[in-house]
Amino acid sequence: MTTQTVGIAGLGAIGSAVGRALVKGIDGLEWTAASNLEPVPEFSIPLVSFEDLAKRCDIIIEALPPGVVPELTKHVFAEQKTLILISSCALLMFPEILDTHKSTHSRILVPSGALAGIDGIKGLKELGIEKSIIASTKKPSGFSGAPYVDKMGINLEQIQSSGVKTKIFEGNALEAAKGFPANVNVAATLSLAGIGPEKTQVEIWADPDAKGNSHEINVYGEFSHLNARITNRPDPANPKSSMLAAQSIVTVLKDMNKAIVVL
Ligand SMILES: NC(=O)c1ccc[n+]([C@@H]2O[C@H](COP(=O)([O-])OP(=O)(O)OC[C@H]3O[C@@H](n4cnc5c(N)ncnc54)[C@H](O)[C@@H]3O)[C@@H](O)[C@H]2O)c1
Repeated sequence: MTTQTVGIAGLGAIGSAVGRALVKGIDGLEWTAASNLEPVPEFSIPLVSFEDLAKRCDIIIEALPPGVVPELTKHVFAEQKTLILISSCALLMFPEILDTHKSTHSRILVPSGALAGIDGIKGLKELGIEKSIIASTKKPSGFSGAPYVDKMGINLEQIQSSGVKTKIFEGNALEAAKGFPANVNVAATLSLAGIGPEKTQVEIWADPDAKGNSHEINVYGEFSHLNARITNRPDPANPKSSMLAAQSIVTVLKDMNKAIVVL
């Protein structure tokens, strides 16, 4: 088996968890470089620019704030490398990424992230999806700093003290990605796997009693109704993130060289 080199762009909560799995060892893969704003003492891995990361590595894992993703994809596509992209909302926020991608041989792999049920959605898509809805629920503080919350003057502290679960947004996945870039990767992933960002409906709920970050999807086809719900506890390393998202990248990496792959 030839060994493929791996680079991680962003060594925050998700990138570091993936880094730990690579240090432990994944068949056929060798972690050779990373990009991050600051040194991470836990890892003795060279920190390089996005340009060097794309030149040096066969597979690049994206674990960055969404706003930085276009800069990374520019270099990955120029080098025709494989990209594993966890900030799926960046594909909706910056359509130029997919426009540029059309003229490259790079593959973009989007892991299931914090969501469950993507396998069923892909199957349903083959038969025709009539309706696709996702409702995401978090504690009010989980939405602080979201552009939509600031623009609409939504008082998250008031919702918290009211004790009442409140719907703070309803719209399509494209609008949700712009309004809640750090919170709606799941909606973006659902839309990319299903009927696209304009037709995928999104509800965002702030719940003072939420025990974690929950996502419930309802996808309707002629022959099936898929209902899936998952609750992820906040990642201690980044309360806006989830441990499951990092592990969905690890499973993509492990599947790359397995003889039997369950999809
Ligand atoms: N698909 C999903 O279901 C899902 C779930 C959770 C999080 N996410 C997304 O994954 C991404 C990463 O999440 P996280 O929790 O690890 O974030 P994080 O804030 O913990 O880490 C981001 C890292 O990126 C680095 N970084 C920022 N700008 C950089 C630059 N210009 N060059 C190099 N490094 C830079 C920072 O130093 C930081 O270490 C976010 O966009 C988040 O929204 C997706």
